Amino acid sequence: MKGPRGVFVCQECGYESAKWMGKCPACASWNRFVEEVRQEAAPVRVAGRRGASGRGLAGAAGPALASAPIPVGEVISGHEERLITGIGEFDRVLGGGIVAGSVALIGGDPGIGKSTILLQVSASVARRTGPVLYVTGEESARQVGLRAARLDAKCERLLVLCETDVISIVEQIHAVRPALVVIDSIQTMDYAGLESSPGSVGQVRECTALLMRAAKERGVPVFLVGHVTKSGAIAGPKVLEHIVDTVLYFEGESVHAHRIIRAVKNRYGSTNEVGIFAMTDAGLEQVENPSEMLLSERPGGAAGSVVVASLEGTRPLLVEVQSLVARSVTGTPRRTTTGVDYNRTAIIIAVLERRAGFAIGMEDIYVNVAGGVALNEPAVDLGIAAAVVSSFRGVPTSGGTVVFGEVGLAGELRAVNHADLRVAEAQRLGFSRCVVPRHNLKNMNRKPQGVEIIGAASVREALDAVFAGVKA
Ligand code: TYD
Ligand code: MG
Repeated sequence: MKGPRGVFVCQECGYESAKWMGKCPACASWNRFVEEVRQEAAPVRVAGRRGASGRGLAGAAGPALASAPIPVGEVISGHEERLITGIGEFDRVLGGGIVAGSVALIGGDPGIGKSTILLQVSASVARRTGPVLYVTGEESARQVGLRAARLDAKCERLLVLCETDVISIVEQIHAVRPALVVIDSIQTMDYAGLESSPGSVGQVRECTALLMRAAKERGVPVFLVGHVTKSGAIAGPKVLEHIVDTVLYFEGESVHAHRIIRAVKNRYGSTNEVGIFAMTDAGLEQVENPSEMLLSERPGGAAGSVVVASLEGTRPLLVEVQSLVARSVTGTPRRTTTGVDYNRTAIIIAVLERRAGFAIGMEDIYVNVAGGVALNEPAVDLGIAAAVVSSFRGVPTSGGTVVFGEVGLAGELRAVNHADLRVAEAQRLGFSRCVVPRHNLKNMNRKPQGVEIIGAASVREALDAVFAGVKA
C-alpha cells in the first residue's frame, strides 16, 4: 500500500486536479477546490465480479474476472425483480416499483418532504414485505419516532438507525438483511478512510460507492436522500447522478401544498412519469385527481382566467392560467411571469400585438399559473395568449372552454403532442369545448362525446373561438 496521496477536488462538480486551482476548468466556479487525502488502495470501485469479500475494505479491490462479450440477443431479458412500495404515485415514478439492488437518489430543497415520503414508503414496505432499515444522520431516533407517529408509520419491522459511519451501516445491512434501505441523507455520511468532512464530493462519492456495493451484493434497493443547496456549499446530488441508477427530484414550493416527484434519470423505466402528492397534516397524500385539485379555486366567469390542458409526463393536467393587464404608469411596461417561461410570454405578447392586432405593447402584463405549478411546454402558449387577451378586453372566456396549442412567430397555431389525452381530461372534468390547433385534428383518433372540438389555424382564429358568444 502506498502512502496517502493528496488530490484537489472541485466541490461543485467533482473535477480532480493534482494542484490547487482558483477556478475550476470544468465548471468555472471559483474557490471550490479542497484537498482530499486518499489511501492508494482504498476501494472506489463498485462490486467487481469477484470483489465479494463483503465488508472487508482493504481486500475488496482484488482483480476482477475478465468478462467476455456476448451477443445482445442472448442477454436474458427477463423481468427485473421489483419491490412494490404500495404507494401508487411513488411506484409510478419509479416505473412500477423499485428494482432489487438498485440505488435511487431523491433530491430536493430542504423542507420539501424527502424524509416524510421516505418514512411513509418505509412503513408501507415494512408492512407489506419485510424489515426496512431507515438510517438517519440528520435527526435523532426520537425525532424520527415522533414523525412516524404523526404519519401513522409505526411498524415493528421499520428499524431506525442513527448512524453516520458508512462502514457500520454496511455491516448493519448485512446483519439485518432488510427489504429496503433508506439513507437520510448521503451528505451526512462519513467514510473514515477519507480525511475530508462529510458532505464533500469525495465523501459523498465514496459513501455512495460503498452503499451501492452492499446493495448489489444483497440485492436490496437503497434510497439516498440528497440535499440541493442554492450556493452549492454541500456536494450536491449532481455528482451522484452519474453513479446511481435512478434520480428523482422533488418539486414544489413550500407555500403550496402540492408536490411533484419527477424521475430525471431511470435505468429501469421511463423518465416521463411524475407522482403528484399534497402535503397534509398526516404527511404526503397521493393526489389521484390533480386537475380537480388545481382547478378547485378557480373564479367562475372572471376575465383573465383560462384553463389550459398541459401534460406532466404522460399525464394530462388541467391548469388555470391567469393574467392581469393594466395600463403602465411608468411608460416602461412591466412583464412578470410565475409558472410560465418569461421569454416565451414576451414572444406571445409580441405576436398578439403584431399578428392579431391587440395594442398591448404599452401595458403592464402579469401572467401567473394558479397553484404554483410550473408549465414548461409550448402547448400552454395558447392559454397565455387567451388569458392576456381576456384581461386586456375585460371579457371572460366562454364557459367550459379548455385551450392548448403552440403559438408560432407568424401567428400560426402549431400542433402539440398527445392532443387526445388532453381532450380526454377536459371531457373527464366536464368541460364542453376544446380550442386546439387545427393540425391536431387529423391525428385525433377518438372523438370524445359531449365535447366540441374546435380546430384553429392561427391565434387569431383560436381567440375568436375562445371568446365566441361572450359579450364584450
Ligand atoms: P421533511 O420531510 O422533513 O423535508 P426534507 O426531508 O425534504 O427536508 O418535511 C418538511 C416539511 O413538511 C416540514 O416543514 C413540515 C411539513 N410536514 C407536514 O406538513 N406534515 C407532515 O405530516 C410532516 C411529517 C411534515
Ligand atoms: Mg429531511
